[in-house]
Amino acid sequence: MHHFHYHNNCMYCEDVPVPEIAQKTGTPFYLYSHATLRHHFLVFQKAFEGIPHLICFSVKANSNLAVLRLFGNLGGGLDIVSGGELFRGLKAGIPPEKIVFSGVGKRRDEIVYALKSGILMFNVESHQELELIDRCAARLNKKAPISLRVNPDVDPGTHPYISTGLKTNKFGLSEAEAIEAYRWAGGRPHLNVIGISCHIGSQLTEVDPFLDALRHVKDLIAVLNASGISVTYLDLGGGLGITYDQESPPLPSEYGKAILETLGDSAFTLILEPGRVIVGNAGILVTRVLYTKKSEGKDFVIVDSAMNDLVRPSLYGAYHAIEPVIKDPSGTIRADIVGPICESGDFLARDRKIPEVQPGDLLAIMSAGAYGFTMSSNYNSRPRIPEVMVKGNQFYIIRRRESHQDLIAGESIPDFL
Ligand code: LLP
Repeated sequence: MHHFHYHNNCMYCEDVPVPEIAQKTGTPFYLYSHATLRHHFLVFQKAFEGIPHLICFSVKANSNLAVLRLFGNLGGGLDIVSGGELFRGLKAGIPPEKIVFSGVGKRRDEIVYALKSGILMFNVESHQELELIDRCAARLNKKAPISLRVNPDVDPGTHPYISTGLKTNKFGLSEAEAIEAYRWAGGRPHLNVIGISCHIGSQLTEVDPFLDALRHVKDLIAVLNASGISVTYLDLGGGLGITYDQESPPLPSEYGKAILETLGDSAFTLILEPGRVIVGNAGILVTRVLYTKKSEGKDFVIVDSAMNDLVRPSLYGAYHAIEPVIKDPSGTIRADIVGPICESGDFLARDRKIPEVQPGDLLAIMSAGAYGFTMSSNYNSRPRIPEVMVKGNQFYIIRRRESHQDLIAGESIPDFL
């Protein structure tokens, strides 16, 4: 479900015609629907209403302050993986006691920042990290709230780059290591063991791998309980997929129901870390056709956005639907939709059937709200593009386009040159 629709053959975001925004901001730009973001968050939250829970939106999927503030206003917390994401979360006004800190490579300065900020918990991924958190907490004379991330060795059946719960992945602790780490942590005065967590991958389109992981975690909790260790928070991570093309992932309500059934009676506060399912289909990338070109046996549509703006097609071979912003009853072509970057890997779609287009036409790259802007870069010294949010019949620039000056801010030429 989303709020991008056609009216008289013109694409609207909620009540605003997309060409009107393009006119004002220039292209390319990311465009988010406030109504879709809000709806997705509320639907997800509702799926868990039978049990105490906290929805910690995964900041890596979309880290714009306005987006984070919106979820905060709806009662959400955050899943962060860096000091930078913590800074954003706090700037957006998210209460630190609703923030969980995941990631295999937390640095000392990031741990100290999080301890001083008073986050809800660290999802710890190794014994060495646990020791470092213990030392940092002792120095600050604090008790660090921790949860251990276990790797349940479940195959999520997703792209290998985004599966994280197999024992061959770098994430989490094996069950045996986790038991050992819980015992060790239990005896440390500056660690407060409050949770257990797992995250098995992203863009999952079946519910079963989540349930397998949950069963593993439940078994582990039983083992821990038997040796006198108990936890309050059960963090099941994120990972629920969306429809980019033909996928039919479970609805959040089905996902929630299956999890609550598998969980059974429990006294836990459940934490979920959804990213993509909340923001993915709430955003599009609007780009303009620069040129069309025919090489031998191949059509190219060259647009003004590129792999530096949306890297998912180049990096994962990911599919994003491409729609014309103005529908016109012309014919169709089959073409590669490519950007201006000097690499053959710079494409947004390959061999794609799209309506015939002319230079100047606008195209919408759909489902670009998750891992779109957040993975963008300045490659080829291309300024990063604006992010715009529509609410009703108004639109707001929630991040301005970078300037050429922004590109060199922070650089300096040493005197010897
Ligand atoms: N929690 C943890 C610990 C994670 O590592 C992730 C994603 C999430 C939550 C959120 O997962 P989601 O609900 O969005 O699936 N760049 C890739 C996706 C990488 C996901 C990494 N971890 C992409 O564009 O598909």
